[in-house]
Amino acid sequence: MQEQQLYPVSASSGQEALIDQRQYRAMYQLSIEQPVRFWAEQANCIDWIKPFSEVRDCSFDRQDLHIDWFRDGYLNVTANCLDRHLVAMGDKTALIWEADDPDESHRQISYRELYNDVCRCANGLLELGVSKGDIVTIYLPLLPETVVSMLACARIGAVHCVVFGGFSAEALADRIEDSQSRWVITADHSLRAGQQIGLKGNVDAALGRCAGNCVEKVVVVRRSGAAVAWHPQRDIWFSDLLAGQAEHCAPAVMAAEDPLFVLYTAGSANRPRGLVHSCGGYLVYAAITHRYVFDCQPDDIYWCTADIGWITGHSYVVYGPLANGASTLLHEGVPGYPDISRWSQLIDKYKVSIFYTVPTVIRSLMVHGNAAIRGTDRSSLRLLGSVGEPINPEAWQWFYRVFGRGRCPVIDTWWQAETGGIMIAPLPGATALKPGSATLPFFGVEPALFDGAGNRVEGEGEGYLVIRGSWPGQARSILGDPGGFYEAYFSQCPGYYFTGDGARRDADGYYWLSGRVDEVINVAGHRLSSSEIEKALVTHRSVLEAAVVAYPHAIKGQGLYVFVTLCADQAADEHCRQDLVEWLRLQIGGIATPDVIQWAPSLPKTLSGELVRRVLRKIAYDDCDHLGDISNLADPDVLQHLIANRVRPSPGV
Ligand code: WT7
Repeated sequence: MQEQQLYPVSASSGQEALIDQRQYRAMYQLSIEQPVRFWAEQANCIDWIKPFSEVRDCSFDRQDLHIDWFRDGYLNVTANCLDRHLVAMGDKTALIWEADDPDESHRQISYRELYNDVCRCANGLLELGVSKGDIVTIYLPLLPETVVSMLACARIGAVHCVVFGGFSAEALADRIEDSQSRWVITADHSLRAGQQIGLKGNVDAALGRCAGNCVEKVVVVRRSGAAVAWHPQRDIWFSDLLAGQAEHCAPAVMAAEDPLFVLYTAGSANRPRGLVHSCGGYLVYAAITHRYVFDCQPDDIYWCTADIGWITGHSYVVYGPLANGASTLLHEGVPGYPDISRWSQLIDKYKVSIFYTVPTVIRSLMVHGNAAIRGTDRSSLRLLGSVGEPINPEAWQWFYRVFGRGRCPVIDTWWQAETGGIMIAPLPGATALKPGSATLPFFGVEPALFDGAGNRVEGEGEGYLVIRGSWPGQARSILGDPGGFYEAYFSQCPGYYFTGDGARRDADGYYWLSGRVDEVINVAGHRLSSSEIEKALVTHRSVLEAAVVAYPHAIKGQGLYVFVTLCADQAADEHCRQDLVEWLRLQIGGIATPDVIQWAPSLPKTLSGELVRRVLRKIAYDDCDHLGDISNLADPDVLQHLIANRVRPSPGV
């Protein structure tokens, strides 16, 4: 069996790891038995303007839901990510930026330069009227300016809301509307694989359709230099905003529980949830997980390939690494451009020692075999990380043996936008590895499993993964919807945070994540909601009804399988199919491109009219012999047609 394969801890990195096995056990035990003492000590990893005296006050009860960490402490996040590094290492590289086009010159930005840019941008934002607590939308690709904008918000106590640059104008409009943000920072275009994508155009379109839109200013980073439409009253170039601003800006004094950012994520409902993260607890958690899980040490060159528009980018491109004074690489482009060995080349070029990416990328490199590593030796690597979706043992093995040349531990990290930071992962100097398992919980994290009947599973077994009690990085609420926050995460198992994932625990206590148990779909490590895509489909004039489920995809982990019932006057033809694909790209973005569309004269529903996705999932998985109980269907005959006309998706390779 795969899981019998155990990779013992090795000293391959050539340097002592920060935490060994004995320390992990002792610290983990302390963190569970005496969490207040443990977290009080760990919180010293950041500088407090005023130290806290209360460590934790949390309740997951419906009547009294609150999550407070270090409540009476005050800090500024950027003082921790920038100012405190200036004396000892102001000249150290904070950001290395590599453009999409390998022939374009790259940029190296020191901590001092980053500090100056952040202060200038912060002063510019103050001039635009942004003040503490205001929400600023950031719709940018992977640029140094994206980091500068986020930190500039944090400098003055504004709350950033980064929207992934791959989202469409419609998706952006929904988020601006929900957050009531009055400022947007964007770029003329983003550049990916040589293609220009009109971000500014998307902002214009979004603001054009936003009901009750209250955006006052749009700040535009010049990236492509190509012409864009301009509204002189509203639009201002990023460079003009920064020009002439002072290179110092006093850090706002923030209470630990003041919000640092809002980040939208897909849930079960048909609209995205704006998760609210705190200043104090979030930063402590991002910093210590980054240090211990990646064993990050002063000479490391660290590269997390995530886009900043996702939580991984927030915690492990920006806040964790900068709080720890690391040198971190940003690549504007995609892995396979201009050729499939680009990322291997970048590892050699910058002597990257820690490389953190998603299984989808690993699998897409793996299918190219040696071409993905041709001409490179990747000898600078000492640690490999994986996140975003379950990593299949084949991909794990390839990553370990071929990409890492058998010299680097593969650190599979399980966590979520809601958890703020890594929750289950091996520590490189402490945990023996099993390919495909995220292994053991991080300090202070107490996972538990519940079966379908609501009983806690002890020892070996499987069930719904929940977390007992709180940890500092936990999201504090859903913007504007505290009731929804309770319903989504705390109503299922009293006293526990409900993750929405299924998992198995083996005899060694290792966790094996199996995927979502709710309506969330994970395509290439990107989180999508079935109902959100269905809602977008039914707004199309040809669509009467739609149902969206996942199916296994060899590269992306999951693909989108869409069942569509058309209006009576609409022909089910190729033209219509293309039209719907394009529609979803416009309504949500490229990540919502369906892999399969099956025409369905009608959909399986209960007597009360509720869609039964469970059986559709079986059809999409080509598992029609195990449809399960269909006695509650109003009309079981609809299944005959769906099964007979099942579309066989391309395997994805
Ligand atoms: C969902 C969270 C925060 C990481 C980036 C995605 C899945 C994440 C793993 C892993 C198996 C994983 C889960 C989770 N997931 N990491 N190592 N093994 N599954 O954050 O967008 O909030 O998605 O991604 O299903 O619930 P996210």
